[in-house]
Amino acid sequence: MNNNAVLLTGAVVIDESGERQLDIRLRDGVIAEVGEALVAGDEEHLDVSGCLLAPGFVDLHTHLREPGMPEAETIETGSRAAALGGYTAVVAMPNTDPTQDCVEVVEFVAKRGREVGLCDVRPSGSITIGRAGHQLTPFADLAAVGVRLFTDDGSGVQDEGLMRRALEYAGELGVVLAQHCEVASLTAGAVMHEGECCSHLGLPGWPALAEELMVHRDIELSRLTGSPVHLLHLSTARSVELVRAAKAEGLPVTAEATPHHISLNDEHLSSFDTRYKVNPPLRTIADIEAVKVGLIDGTIDAIATDHAPHPSAAKDRPLDEAPPGMLGLETALGVARAHLDCSWQHLIGAMSWRPAKIAGLSDSQGRPIAVGEPANLVVIDPDAEWQVDPHALASRSSNTPFVGVDLKAKVRHTMFQGRVVVRDGIATA
Ligand code: DOR
Repeated sequence: MNNNAVLLTGAVVIDESGERQLDIRLRDGVIAEVGEALVAGDEEHLDVSGCLLAPGFVDLHTHLREPGMPEAETIETGSRAAALGGYTAVVAMPNTDPTQDCVEVVEFVAKRGREVGLCDVRPSGSITIGRAGHQLTPFADLAAVGVRLFTDDGSGVQDEGLMRRALEYAGELGVVLAQHCEVASLTAGAVMHEGECCSHLGLPGWPALAEELMVHRDIELSRLTGSPVHLLHLSTARSVELVRAAKAEGLPVTAEATPHHISLNDEHLSSFDTRYKVNPPLRTIADIEAVKVGLIDGTIDAIATDHAPHPSAAKDRPLDEAPPGMLGLETALGVARAHLDCSWQHLIGAMSWRPAKIAGLSDSQGRPIAVGEPANLVVIDPDAEWQVDPHALASRSSNTPFVGVDLKAKVRHTMFQGRVVVRDGIATA
């Protein structure tokens, strides 16, 4: 048996150039052969008839929690969750402890990701030291060790002058700034979307305007500096409108939305179930519809998970004390497919080649399915209907509200650097 090779037969291949029926042979980490009716040799043979084969998914927004919070997630458990979700690369958010604001911490995360070897773990760098919003991190040093995306995610950069300098600096270095759009003075103490439901429940609200003001500000700062800005987890109809207008003007603005912001609304909070507490909060049905339209018409470039594991001890606290966030990696495809009415190619593009380009990873991720290309691939059963088994989650945490919910389409196999890391829905390591 040749352990460095795999033959996949019978799939419909989908990449940026379109759809076709192809067999493919992987050898030594790359696609070695593509064709019709390839003959099996001494390698593993996966018959994937009836399935879709595509470049692996790329998550622009994963909280891996290491270093600092191993009780919530580790790079190992998070990488396994990613592989099970069809991801071959994740951008690790910087709100670790210590923060990913210096070369040492960033290199630790990247090295640990390589040791685990289940997907490409790409640490982001924070925009400011300690994510405190006052002093810029050494962008050039961080870029020199491979950081391509900078963000203070978990909070937004409040100071306009500092954000302007950060954009100028990022533009010179050819890296991208990603903003968590939240004007903090409008959201102090907030636990859910400010609206009718929040008034009924008597809970402090997080107004849509707190997001939209920063979306607007950063679009204008991008115009002023000419530097690209990526807007994280957009959640409101007006945010989508602002991005649509910015793109129509040709500004270098990109955006993402999460599976939970296209599937769950603020009324879920009337159960006081902390699994529905996220930041930005779940919005109204009208917002959900607008975000979906934005994803379908390309205003929003990417689906990103905001995978945010939290241990039960934290999530079991009262709604106002529990931290925001829910798991995302293992359910993203199933939720997105159940809620987005678009072609497979468009959906996969939003989870693979478009985020790969935003993250600066398009040399190895989201690539065409062709000879010589890196074998970072996912095989999807498009007809599967399934529910999450909470005991089978690879994540160290279990804060997902999607248990018991009907999901559509399932990851069957994931190949990372030519190795089968998920086979028949089970992680191989
Ligand atoms: O819901 C969220 N959780 N949103 C964020 O921006 C941060 C994240 C976390 O780190 O838990």
